[in-house]
Amino acid sequence: MTQHRTAIVTGAARGIGAAIARRLAADGFAVAVLDLDETACASTVDAITASGGHAFAVGVDVADEQAVAAAVARVATELDAPTVLINNAGITRDNLLFKLSADDWDSVMNVHLRGSFLMSRAVQSHMVDAGWGRIVNLSSVSALGNRGQANYSAAKAGLQGFTKTLSIELGRFGVTVNAVAPGFIESDMTAATAARMGVDFDDFKKAAAAAIPVNRVGQPEDVAATVSFFVRDEAGFVSGQVLYVAGGPRD
Ligand code: NAI
Repeated sequence: MTQHRTAIVTGAARGIGAAIARRLAADGFAVAVLDLDETACASTVDAITASGGHAFAVGVDVADEQAVAAAVARVATELDAPTVLINNAGITRDNLLFKLSADDWDSVMNVHLRGSFLMSRAVQSHMVDAGWGRIVNLSSVSALGNRGQANYSAAKAGLQGFTKTLSIELGRFGVTVNAVAPGFIESDMTAATAARMGVDFDDFKKAAAAAIPVNRVGQPEDVAATVSFFVRDEAGFVSGQVLYVAGGPRD
């Protein structure tokens, strides 16, 4: 097994990021739990600690260049050199094109694309020094096109190109870079989508499940299990891939 066992998960205060943080801690990683508000990370950190794991909360806006550099330096000091990075932080600002504001376009690009870029650039030197690393980016089935999500879809498709390019650049240093592209996952993000559409969340989930081949919506743990595979030593020959975690095929 590798000796490099410090992971960073962004947007890990809740939802999919929290599940990934808990899963990586259970897999034996010390986990830096990053999110906008440091105090909001407490529930994830407490859950990990209560299970005998090791976690550390850091408040950071992943789109802020200076804050990202400071956050990664803090993780390296408080835990150890981070060699696993999960770029999970995300937001939606949905609207049809004719109503989509430039601010809502920029916000979504900044968190998903600029955020994943800044975090990856800040962490890569630790991975290169170690001669080993794992980056997993959160894409989405929306990358294939989704009404009302021109900004989010473009960002999630952009992350697929980003993933493939980093895998080409970093492979020689023992670093793999992959993307997970979830379908409908039960979280605050999908609950907010239902609320915005004026639909009861249970009805929303039922309708989504009916259109999914495995006949259920996804849970954050479904995504966490997939991330857990990508970061393993034995997944070292899997790089530049996009894995749809959507209960059925996508292409
Ligand atoms: P969520 O809204 O429950 O959690 C997202 C977390 O990211 C929040 O804790 C939020 O504070 C944090 N965050 C937002 N902007 C940030 C920033 N600038 N810096 C640091 N942290 C920030 O969302 P969920 O559902 O857990 O989604 C996680 C990821 O999975 C996102 O990238 C999302 O786009 C993606 N995804 C989610 C799907 C779903 O059905 N829920 C489907 C496909 C992809």
